[in-house]
Amino acid sequence: MSRGRLITLEGGDGAGKTTQAGWIRDLIRAQGVLLVETREPGGTPLAETIREWVLSPTAEEPDGLAELLLVFAARRQHWVRRIEPALESGIWVLCDRFIDSTYAYQGGGRGLPLAWIATLEHWVLGPGGRPDLTLYFDTPVDQALERVRQRGHLNRMEREGPDWHEQVRSAYRSRWEADPERFIRIEGGRPPDEVRAILEAALTHRFATWQSQASIRPEEPSG
Ligand code: TYD
Repeated sequence: MSRGRLITLEGGDGAGKTTQAGWIRDLIRAQGVLLVETREPGGTPLAETIREWVLSPTAEEPDGLAELLLVFAARRQHWVRRIEPALESGIWVLCDRFIDSTYAYQGGGRGLPLAWIATLEHWVLGPGGRPDLTLYFDTPVDQALERVRQRGHLNRMEREGPDWHEQVRSAYRSRWEADPERFIRIEGGRPPDEVRAILEAALTHRFATWQSQASIRPEEPSG
């Protein structure tokens, strides 16, 4: 049985990924695969508790490194209990935020050294943790923050100012520029129906490529 695929949704707060998530899930399922939908931080009961600690505004602000370690503690639990077992049994995983969020928010936003994040990534995920595909919603910060303000109930990241969110955006763009094959980048500031049309075409093309690669893969030698 072939390993499942890990597809991640990424982008700044208010970038528009949640609006599109429903049909993306349906399009993946239409490939005839089993799919688990999940999110980070979170995805298991313990990791969801850690999510609360990371995102809820509280009297005691976590120190930046403490925040990074909490995010990775949640990720480790999610990875070993949920994502990795699914992938190994051939199930696909659609994860709302994953490792690129940490490079963007704790690296870009909080200014923590990227080398620390890379070390933790290696410990926590090992070599199999690179997503097969990342849909990156790249949205101008002023537009994205306006959407966030309209939603209300701001989490600890969403309460940060525009300059902080520009740093998050620029860290995301560096991730995309360093590994463009893995990403489909969408201009999230466009109207939602345009975003959908562009993304649907790109995804359909990517799935067709994967299918043709799978069908030309040489047979395992028997016996
Ligand atoms: P988000 O996914 O936008 O959920 P909601 O739509 O419920 O607000 O919020 C998750 C927040 O977590 C977002 O502000 C980014 C932050 N985050 C990090 O700071 N680091 C991480 O590694 C991850 C996965 C998320």
